Amino acid sequence: MATTVPVLLLLLLLLCPAVPEKTQPCNYTLTYLYIGQSMPSEDSPRFQATGFLNDKEFLNYNSKDRKAKPQGPWKDIEEMENWEEESQLQRAREAIFMDTLEDIMAFYNDSNGSHILQERLGCEVHNNISSGAFWKSAYDGKDFIEFNREIPTWVPLDPAAWNTKKKWEAEEVYVHRAKAYLEQECPDLLRGYLNYSRHILDQQGTHYFLIPCQPGPGGEGTYLSTMELSVLPQDRDAYSCLVEHSALAQPLSVAWDGRQEAGAGSTVGTHPQ
Ligand SMILES: *[C@@H]1O[C@H](CO)[C@@H](O)[C@H](O)[C@H]1NC(C)=O
Ligand SMILES: *[C@@H]1O[C@H](CO)[C@@H](O)[C@H](O)[C@H]1NC(C)=O
Ligand SMILES: *[C@@H]1O[C@H](CO)[C@@H](O)[C@H](O)[C@H]1NC(C)=O
Ligand SMILES: *[C@@H]1O[C@H](CO)[C@@H](O)[C@H](O)[C@H]1NC(C)=O
Ligand SMILES: *[C@@H]1O[C@H](CO)[C@@H](O)[C@H](O)[C@H]1NC(C)=O
Repeated sequence: MATTVPVLLLLLLLLCPAVPEKTQPCNYTLTYLYIGQSMPSEDSPRFQATGFLNDKEFLNYNSKDRKAKPQGPWKDIEEMENWEEESQLQRAREAIFMDTLEDIMAFYNDSNGSHILQERLGCEVHNNISSGAFWKSAYDGKDFIEFNREIPTWVPLDPAAWNTKKKWEAEEVYVHRAKAYLEQECPDLLRGYLNYSRHILDQQGTHYFLIPCQPGPGGEGTYLSTMELSVLPQDRDAYSCLVEHSALAQPLSVAWDGRQEAGAGSTVGTHPQ
């Protein structure tokens, strides 16, 4: 005799759950990634900057067009940033960055080789409070220099970085500017960006609800549970559906496929004993 059994559908949400904005518990990050190459291949730029909000690219700049441009969904919220000012800022960073690369190459007598300098800098905001920041670079894939906010100072991680440190710290203001940038300007910028971007960053968790189990259409002893969730198409690989039920020897994990996408949600049937 068939009886209705509760089927627990546990959706593995990798990002923020749906909660009111004011108590948003999530961590948000603003990260810039810089790459400079001494001998780029013909169609790639010598210098490229990419900005990320959490793991999503929102800004791109390169030494060919020298224009900072919004990316992805941010193309529709251009008012989030003054892109002309942003372009000027990125041009200034490009100049400092490429100077540093040249200095390192000169130190190593590498002036005619192919070399790469990479840098990551950014900050994190947790419950609207600044909760972390970092600024670190690597030369040819090896740690080069890192900013320590507590002292504050630039910490060389490579012999050539002592010269870089000396050059940057010759202007003491540069150390204080770096600290102020990481601890104040960057979090403020991130908070401002969040005013325009929360709906993009939190999208995955905002519209889900469970429909109680119903006898399914699949035949005797089959039950259907439906759950609906709005997911950006490019993010669907991040989701799977996990079913835990006494009739199953072990939890069943169901990946996303075309059927769920075409229909009104994900459906999973189980056969009670
Ligand atoms: C680079 O060349 C100079 C002069 O030729 C030399 O004094 C120096 O030691 C070299 N530097 C390295 C890192 O090999
Ligand atoms: C590049 O540098 C190496 C040694 O550092 C030298 O032997 C070589 O001739 C240089 N090549 C050019 C094109 O300057
Ligand atoms: C978030 O923090 C900023 C700066 O500390 C403050 O101006 C703002 O009012 C805060 N927002 C909320 C929603 O608490
Ligand atoms: C968010 O950041 C805070 C401070 O860095 C950390 O304590 C907390 O574990 C983080 N939470 C998540 C969900 O990553
Ligand atoms: C973001 O919006 C909140 C509420 O509308 C406002 O209080 C805050 O000043 C804004 N923050 C920034 C940095 O624009």
